[in-house]
Amino acid sequence: MNLPHEAGAPDQYGVVGHPVKHSWSPFIHGMFAKSAAQNLVYRLFDVVPDDFRRETLRLMTSGVRGLNVTLPHKQAAAELVNELTPRAARAQAVNTIAFFEGSTLLGDNTDGVGLTADLTRNMGIELAGKRVLILGAGGAARGVVGPLLECELGSLAVANRTPYKARKIAEEFSDLGDVVGCTFAELEGPPNDLIVNATSASLQGVMPELPDGLVDEDTVCYDMAYGRGDTPFTLWARGLNARTVVKGWGMLVEQAAESFLLWRGIRPNTQAVLEALARID
Ligand code: ATR
Repeated sequence: MNLPHEAGAPDQYGVVGHPVKHSWSPFIHGMFAKSAAQNLVYRLFDVVPDDFRRETLRLMTSGVRGLNVTLPHKQAAAELVNELTPRAARAQAVNTIAFFEGSTLLGDNTDGVGLTADLTRNMGIELAGKRVLILGAGGAARGVVGPLLECELGSLAVANRTPYKARKIAEEFSDLGDVVGCTFAELEGPPNDLIVNATSASLQGVMPELPDGLVDEDTVCYDMAYGRGDTPFTLWARGLNARTVVKGWGMLVEQAAESFLLWRGIRPNTQAVLEALARID
C-alpha cells in the first residue's frame, strides 16, 4: 500500500501550512515515533496557497508518505485528494493526507476527534446536552462541527465574521443536531457551557468583538490555537472570570495521534507528549 522506499531510510512525513514555522507537530510525531519504535522523519513545509497543489503533488512523487495540512490549506486539500474518509467528506476539510501506491491520495480529518478526545478523555467533560458555541467557520471549524454534534450536544451555534460561511455550515450539518449559524453580533445569552475559538484571529493578535452574556465562570473556554502564554481569546475569557480556560495543546496531540494511526496503523500513547507540552506551556 505504501510507496517503495530505500531499505533502512526513515519514512518521510510532514506538515504543510503557511505560516508553519511555530508548529509543534515535528516534536509530537518525533515522540510518537520513538515510543512506537517507528523509523520516520517529520518535517515542516511552508507553502503559500498558490503553490499548495503543485508542492503537495511534488512531495508525494518525491516519496513523502503522509502530510498533515494546516491553515490555510484544509479546504484546498479536500479538493486535491482523490478519496475522502466519511468524516473528511462531511467536513469538506482535510488535515491529514496519506499517499498510497498508484498515486492515490486519501484525505482524512482528525481535528474533530482530536478535540472531542481532549475534552472528554483528557479534561473529563461530558458534552451531551451542552450549549456550545464555535467562533469561526473556516477549515478548523468545519473539522470539529460533526464530531461535536455526534456527542449529542444540546445546541450548537457557529458564529463567524463572514456570516454566510457559518450559515452554510449550519445547513450542511443540520441533520446531526440543533445547529445555527450567525454573526458575532447576533449571539446572545444564556452563557454557554463551552466556547471553542476556531478563528485564526489569535494569529493576528486580535479577539473578535462579542456581545456580553456569553460566558460565566462555568463556561469552558477552549482556544484551538496554542503556543506559550495567553492568546487574545484566553485573555478575554479570563477577563470574564471563566474558571476553565485552555489552549489547544491536547487537541493538537490527539489529532496527531489519529493521523499517526492512519499512516502507521498504531495509535500512540499520548500521555507523555501531553505532559511534555504542559511543561513548556
Ligand atoms: P482555519 O483552517 O484555521 O480555519 P481558515 O479556513 O483560513 O483557517 O479560517 C480562518 C477563520 O478565522 C475564519 O472563520 C475567519 O473568518 P472569515 O471567514 O470572516 O474570514 C476567521 N478570522 C480570521 N481572522 C479574523 C479576525 N481578525 N476576526 C474574526 N475572525 C477572523
